[in-house]
Amino acid sequence: MKVGIIGAGTMGSGIAQVAASANCQVLLFDTQPEALVKSQQKLAKIMNRLIEKGRITPMAASTLQANIEYVNSLETLADSELIIEAIVEDPAVKKKVFSTLESFVSTDCILASNTSSLSIASLAAACQQPERFIGIHFFNPAPLMKLVEIIPAVQTSNTVKNKARAIIVGWGKLTVLAKDTPGFIVNRVARPFYGEALRIYDEGIADIATIDWAMKTIGGFRMGPFELMDFIGNDINYTVTETVFKAFFYDPRYRPSFTQKRMAEAGYLGRKSGRGYYDYSEDSKKPNPVEDQRLGQAIVDRIVAMLINEAADALHYRVASAVDIDTAMAKGVNYPKGLLAWADKMGICTCVERLDALFEEYHETRYRCSPLLRKMLKNGATFYPEKVSNKNN
Ligand code: NAI
Repeated sequence: MKVGIIGAGTMGSGIAQVAASANCQVLLFDTQPEALVKSQQKLAKIMNRLIEKGRITPMAASTLQANIEYVNSLETLADSELIIEAIVEDPAVKKKVFSTLESFVSTDCILASNTSSLSIASLAAACQQPERFIGIHFFNPAPLMKLVEIIPAVQTSNTVKNKARAIIVGWGKLTVLAKDTPGFIVNRVARPFYGEALRIYDEGIADIATIDWAMKTIGGFRMGPFELMDFIGNDINYTVTETVFKAFFYDPRYRPSFTQKRMAEAGYLGRKSGRGYYDYSEDSKKPNPVEDQRLGQAIVDRIVAMLINEAADALHYRVASAVDIDTAMAKGVNYPKGLLAWADKMGICTCVERLDALFEEYHETRYRCSPLLRKMLKNGATFYPEKVSNKNN
C-alpha cells in the first residue's frame, strides 16, 4: 500500500517508520530539506541500535529503510491511498496543504491529520471532499506507543472511518475511537493528573517530591506528575492545558496553573533545559519526599477521584466507550489500570463521596461530580459487569 506522510519532524518520522515496518511504500515529504536528511539519519541510528540489540535483522532493517522515500515535492504523493499530515500545529498551514493535495490525489485517497489540538471538522471543512477526512492521532514516540486515537469528523464517511481504522490496526497498533472534542480521549482525561497535582502543591498541602512519591508508591503510576511534566516539557504541557481550557469555553475544570505558566516563562522547561520542577544538573540532589502514608494516600485519593470524574464525564458525553477510555489511558499514558475499572474497584459511592467532599470544601465547579457517577450511584450500577471488572483489576 502507498502511504504519504507530510512533515518529517518528530511525529512524521515516527509514523513513517511504523508504516514502513508494516511493509507500506512510504513517501515522506517536508518543505525543509534538512528535516528530511535528519529524519533519514535518525532512522538509520534507530535501526543500528535495534540491530545491536538483536531486535531486528540487518536485512529487515534495510528493507524497512528502503520502504521510505524522502521527497521534496508534494505532488510525488499523488498515488497515495492514505496521506497523514504531521506538520506544524497551525490550522491555516494545514488547511492549505489539504486543499493543495486534493487538486492531484485520487478521489478515494484518505486524508488524515495527526493534530493534537485542532478540531477535525474544521480541517475537513477545508477539503472539497470532507467525507474522506479523518483524525489519526499517534503518541510520541510513534513506533513505541501502541495506542492510536481514530477521530472521525462529523463529515467523515463510515467507509473512511472503517478503512482508516483497519489500516492502522494492520500496522500493529491498538486503536480507540474518539469523538471530535478537545483533547480527544487522552489529552482530556489526563488533565487532572497534572492540574490537581499542581493545585495540591499551590495550596501548600505537599511539596513536589512528596506528591510524586505518593503517586508512584501508593498510586502505582510509573512517573509522578511533576516528573512527567518535566519529561514532557513545561512549555508543551502548559500549552496543551491552555488549549484544552480555551477549547472547552473556559470551563474552570481545565484552568491552567500559574505555577506551570511561570515555569514555562522562566525557561524551566524540564529535562530538556536541565531544570524544571527538579534540577537535572550533574551535581544536583533530588529532594527527599515526606514519606507520610496518610498524607500520601490523601494525595492519591484526590487526584485519582478527579481523574475518574474526568473519565466518567467523557463517557457521559459519549467521547468514547468505557473500554476505549480505559484502553487509551492504560496504553497512551501507561496508567496502572483503566480509570473506570478503578472506579468500580473503589466503589462508585467512594468516588462520589470524595468529589462531593472536595466540592463542599471549595465550592468550585471544578469539583462538581459527573452526573453519570451520581446516576450510577443511585442505580447501584458499575462501569463493567462484575466479572469483567474483577478481571481488569
Ligand atoms: P515537528 O516540529 O517535530 O515537525 C514538523 C515538521 O513539519 C517540520 O519538519 C517542518 O519542517 C514540517 N513542515 C512545516 N510546515 C510544513 C508544510 N507546509 N509542508 C510540509 N512540511 C512542513 O512537529 P511534531 O512534534 O512532529 O508535530 C507534528 C504534528 O503532530 C502536530 O500537529 C502536533 O500537534 C502533532 N502531535 C505531536 C505530538 C508530539 O508529542 N510531538 C504527539 C501527537 C501529535
